[in-house]
Amino acid sequence: MMHCRSRHIFGCIYCTTCSLLIMLMLSYYLLMVIINPSNVEFYVTEASLTQFNFTSNNTLFYHLKVNVTVRNPNKHMIVYYRNITAIAWYKDNDVGRVSLAPFDQAHKNTTYLQALFEGQNVIPLKPKQLGEYQEETSIGVYNDLAVDFDLKIRSKYRKWFKSGRFNPPIVQCRRMRVPLISNGKSAPSFIVIKCNSGSFFKDRGAH
Ligand SMILES: *[C@@H]1O[C@H](CO)[C@@H](O)[C@H](O)[C@H]1NC(C)=O
Ligand SMILES: *[C@@H]1O[C@H](CO)[C@@H](O)[C@H](O)[C@H]1NC(C)=O
Ligand SMILES: *[C@@H]1O[C@H](CO)[C@@H](O)[C@H](O)[C@H]1NC(C)=O
Ligand SMILES: *[C@@H]1O[C@H](CO)[C@@H](O)[C@H](O)[C@H]1NC(C)=O
Ligand SMILES: *[C@@H]1O[C@H](CO)[C@@H](O)[C@H](O)[C@H]1NC(C)=O
Repeated sequence: MMHCRSRHIFGCIYCTTCSLLIMLMLSYYLLMVIINPSNVEFYVTEASLTQFNFTSNNTLFYHLKVNVTVRNPNKHMIVYYRNITAIAWYKDNDVGRVSLAPFDQAHKNTTYLQALFEGQNVIPLKPKQLGEYQEETSIGVYNDLAVDFDLKIRSKYRKWFKSGRFNPPIVQCRRMRVPLISNGKSAPSFIVIKCNSGSFFKDRGAH
């Protein structure tokens, strides 16, 4: 195949397989450029904390619940979510991560997800951030929380073209203001956040 000049049969097979794979990847990439599918839309519709204690040994005890709406706006694309890792952040510190169950999403369908982050983690809050944390604690609403989605998906265009597994750009839901719910005290309501889902149908390595 193409530049296959190897004298060894295995080298030749390897070479052929590689060029076939590269051609397949290129044709997927070209197809995405031609049909230009809309990005899948992610929204955080609800988020609440029932615990968010930062203790003197720099340990954060947290219990964060996040509702997410995922909408595939495309008429001819099916999305197969194969690996979904949700990552929670507080002021740019990695708080915790959780895996969600894989699912398939038909064209023009919406899926409702819930991610529950629970546990403890040592996080290095800077003095300024510690001051903000204390102020937010007194108000009962925490600023600058974020949730990322690290995905591995396959996609299918109409009936005939199914991609291999790839990683879309990391979906980023930033600047969430999350109320702490304590002793049934009614917290202010959460403001819905639209997440940034980049060029969703292109592998994040292909930029
Ligand atoms: C966290 O704070 C809440 C309310 O102040 C308290 O009830 C709870 O025991 C604390 N948890 C830890 C692990 O410090
Ligand atoms: C930090 O302190 C808490 C009690 O306040 C304890 O449960 C936890 O294990 C400590 N974490 C570390 C890393 O020492
Ligand atoms: C959040 O998700 C849970 C579980 O799917 C659901 O029971 C709850 O009603 C949702 N809350 C909102 C405000 O959508
Ligand atoms: C999903 O991805 C995460 C992070 O990359 C990894 O730790 C985990 O093993 C993966 N799970 C599966 C089922 O592939
Ligand atoms: C997608 O949505 C359509 C109509 O909104 C529904 O009939 C269909 O069952 C859904 N498919 C899946 C896989 O949820």
